[in-house]
Amino acid sequence: MESATGPLTLAILGTGAMGRFWADQLHRLNPWIVGHIAPPYRVVDDGTVREVNPRYLKWHESAPVVPEVVLLATKWRKMSTAFQWISSHAPSSLVVSLMNGMGQEEALAPLQKVRLCMGATTAAVTRQDREIPTIIVQSLGATTLPDTDDEQVNYLKASPLSHPWQWVHPDEMLRMRWQKLIQNSVINPLTALADCPNDALLTHPIWGLAEPLILEAQRVASTAGIVLPNDMLTRVSTLLEQTHGNMSSMVQDVRDKVPTEIDAINGYLVRLAGPHGFTIPTHEALIRLIKSLPTRTETIH
Ligand code: PAF
Repeated sequence: MESATGPLTLAILGTGAMGRFWADQLHRLNPWIVGHIAPPYRVVDDGTVREVNPRYLKWHESAPVVPEVVLLATKWRKMSTAFQWISSHAPSSLVVSLMNGMGQEEALAPLQKVRLCMGATTAAVTRQDREIPTIIVQSLGATTLPDTDDEQVNYLKASPLSHPWQWVHPDEMLRMRWQKLIQNSVINPLTALADCPNDALLTHPIWGLAEPLILEAQRVASTAGIVLPNDMLTRVSTLLEQTHGNMSSMVQDVRDKVPTEIDAINGYLVRLAGPHGFTIPTHEALIRLIKSLPTRTETIH
């Protein structure tokens, strides 16, 4: 696929589990990957092992041409680093986000020239960094993006991706982002506190908190005018089964003793509930519990 100026140019921000996953899935676009862990990366997927070796940039480096599309695949703790990179090296590009949580629009708002394309993915990937930086793909999941009238979106829609993306109406996309937010608000902190793989959560005593968490989150969603399906508990259980064996991203963060994404997931819900005059105590309790876990200071290279 060629854009007006040649092949579509893409930079993937983040060299963690999801950055490596997208570098593999989008390898036909010959992307740059930006972060502090240099390729090659090993990808273990459905019993096969392959290597992906994208073009690599460190956080302070720019691509030789301004990338038309920037894919945000960092964790929230790297958002300010990603912001700086976009601001310096791609200030008017299309920024596609497949990050967990909500609030990307607010975080990127000062970058007035970027165009945003906020999607969601249920891909489940576990990172394993021993000799070679490795990811284990537990589930390709589904990846959905808003179908907007944008030249780069049209190029992406026609691009050869290993696991095709689904494009839906922007209203439907917002509903799907909320659904994913609620799934993450249950799965991520509960697996992190239980220190278990996704499917083991279903039989763990802490799973009893899933229903109150969903009811509280649905109340917040309705204040934002979002109508969610009635079977959210089933949808959370189904995602846990589909991603069985996966260590959720929050389990991986807690084990690595780095700050989690709790503020962008459960914290986002708490921040929305407050002005409407109600509290969501189960989410608040989980935030306090997750934040009480030990972290170490991280160096950004
Ligand atoms: O954050 C995660 O780990 C993922 O979003 C998901 C889909 C819950 C799989 O573990």
